[in-house]
Amino acid sequence: MRALGGGSGGDTDGGSDGGVGPRALLSVGGLWDAKAALDEALSLPLRHPAVFAAAPLRLRTGVLLYGPPGCGKTMLARAAVAAAGIRMISVKGPELLNKYIGQSEAGVRAVFRRAAAAAPCALFFDEFDAIAPRRGNDSTGVTDRVVNQFLTELDGVEGLAGVTVLAATSRPDLIDPALLRPGRLDRLLLCPFPDQRERQEILSALARDLAGSAGGEDDGIGSKESRGFVGESAASIATVAEAEARLGLDEVARRTSGFSGADLRALMSDASLSAIHREIANGESEGGNESEIGGRVGVPTVMPGDVATAMSEARASVSAAERARLDKVCPKPSTINPQPGTVNPKY
Ligand SMILES: Nc1ncnc2c1ncn2[C@@H]1O[C@H](COP(=O)(O)OP(=O)(O)O)[C@@H](O)[C@H]1O
Ligand SMILES: [Mg+2]
Repeated sequence: MRALGGGSGGDTDGGSDGGVGPRALLSVGGLWDAKAALDEALSLPLRHPAVFAAAPLRLRTGVLLYGPPGCGKTMLARAAVAAAGIRMISVKGPELLNKYIGQSEAGVRAVFRRAAAAAPCALFFDEFDAIAPRRGNDSTGVTDRVVNQFLTELDGVEGLAGVTVLAATSRPDLIDPALLRPGRLDRLLLCPFPDQRERQEILSALARDLAGSAGGEDDGIGSKESRGFVGESAASIATVAEAEARLGLDEVARRTSGFSGADLRALMSDASLSAIHREIANGESEGGNESEIGGRVGVPTVMPGDVATAMSEARASVSAAERARLDKVCPKPSTINPQPGTVNPKY
């Protein structure tokens, strides 16, 4: 089974892919609390810029999304920013270190400058643990300097107006605690493994969005016109509901305990692919390519059998033991959040 956990290697500017406007969030299944909190963190300053401009520094809030790999952190960040209708400057942690060898702090500074110039925008640090590990453990001092630069930028008086800072990690335990103090990345949003209801919603979202793309590299945000899962070109609520019932997606949700969103996506891609193979085989046996009519490539409708085949081969990418370990690494926010009042002991 394919591993789809890491997300595709994106550019520094990741904001342009996917749908824009409130629809963007429809692609994200479950994660209701995180969605609402992120939406608020992004839209409130946009709706009330004057209030936020006049507010004391401590009111400012950065967001850290954390949770096991493949559970939608990157996807949610991108979708929420797209839904807010602002630009996103997106930087992957390891990229920042590699790109600016020997001058990583300068890299951090440059990225914040760019964000300030692009305001209102969101500045997103994906795989944040790579650039923000606890200080004092790095013999070269490189990441220590990077973390210090981060703190300087996050506390900067000017420059951050209209910039919402977001970060994502599957290892919140590795991150320097000073970065999580009030006024910095102080809103911690957990993106856990989905439960049955959440899996159901993810499967619905995938049925709507993934249809026909046959496991392409896009991150599922956006509204592609396709009929692979719904059987019609317009994915109306009624046809999606019909497709869910026809394909038994509630049964799939029930039988996929321990699957991440990425695992569910792989499963649905496999079902889609199986439909495509069937279509090609049919076309060949009929001696022509039936699916290409007027230059438009038709997407074969996924049948219950395709889903059943995919189900029989699907497995959760994270073992139960590993899941238990991840649950410990990614506990509920209250247990990570630094105690209020302990401001800056380390900085
Ligand atoms: N909650 C979700 N709703 C819909 N799709 C999801 C969800 N979580 C994960 N996925 C699918 O899995 C892919 C990988 O998720 P990603 O956001 O990269 O996970 P993370 O950043 O947490 O490792 C997404 O592009 C999407 O296709
Ligand atoms: Mg990610």
